Amino acid sequence: MHDILISENITGPAVDHLAARFDVVYLPDLWKDPKGLGEHVRDTRAWMVRNQTRVTRDLLHAARELIVVSRAGAGLDNIDVDAATEAGILVTYAPDQNSISAAEHTFALLLALARRIPVADADTKAGGWSRHRFFGNELYGKTLGIMGLGKIGYLTATRAQAFGMKILAFDPLLSRDNVYLAQLKAELVGLDDLLAHSDFVCCHVPSTAKTIGMLNRQRFAKMKPTACIINTSRGEIINEADLVDALKSGRIAGAALDVRATEPPRKSELESLPNVILTPHIAAFTHEAQDRVTRAVCEDVARVLDGKLPQYPANRPGAHPAVLA
Ligand code: MLT
Repeated sequence: MHDILISENITGPAVDHLAARFDVVYLPDLWKDPKGLGEHVRDTRAWMVRNQTRVTRDLLHAARELIVVSRAGAGLDNIDVDAATEAGILVTYAPDQNSISAAEHTFALLLALARRIPVADADTKAGGWSRHRFFGNELYGKTLGIMGLGKIGYLTATRAQAFGMKILAFDPLLSRDNVYLAQLKAELVGLDDLLAHSDFVCCHVPSTAKTIGMLNRQRFAKMKPTACIINTSRGEIINEADLVDALKSGRIAGAALDVRATEPPRKSELESLPNVILTPHIAAFTHEAQDRVTRAVCEDVARVLDGKLPQYPANRPGAHPAVLA
């Protein structure tokens, strides 16, 4: 029996601090081995993951000693939170510690698409000096359509304001008199309107039954042929086969994807398209964000193991032994 199992790559001073107080089993590749996971979670009181470990109902119900699962990040789509609640297991996470980094990466991709940085870089490094081949577009005066005006969407919008962009937002959770919309001078519209009128569309929505595949052939057909998509949220919200067709046929102009439908992704035509920029789910991977994320989840694991309430709970299991202690 040990105190804490870490089944993905989570390191840093906060983890070292935790290891000085508790018995930590650190197996960063364990997420790839469902059988090994099953064996290890039976013997642990706390379990720390990123987004690659599938924290399933079966694993949670078999983990008799487990009192807390802690997610080093904001998305909870890899964790069966309902099953954890039923089993009396707390789930904690880092809801906004990486939001600034995610917004900055969205903006980095937006600028890289608009100014064609990756293709110009590759050509110049190969010996070219093709000043007339890489004409780009200004962001100034263009319309940014933001799907999901939560924390990351809002932070992206404030950066877009500084570039003189007009902002449209689609978010079924917001009402028209929302103060953030007023602050941003953003217009709340339906998804089809947003797609029809945006020059750039960025996605900041979670992966749910409603959002999976929401950007598909029918939706790409509504977009301007000059428009580009940036996705730093969850890969499965885009139908990748339909995206490849839209890009190859000139239905839309470009895409930048930090996230993919399966991760690591299977080989696809996206890798060979010049109007596509791909990064390996690194929007949240800055020193600053990871320092904040790791500190938040390590502190919460220590609090729960010490019988205290966590600062960032994602559920409220009724009679939790650590909380009642
Ligand atoms: C998040 O959900 O916080 C980001 O996608 C980064 C991650 O999954 O670790």
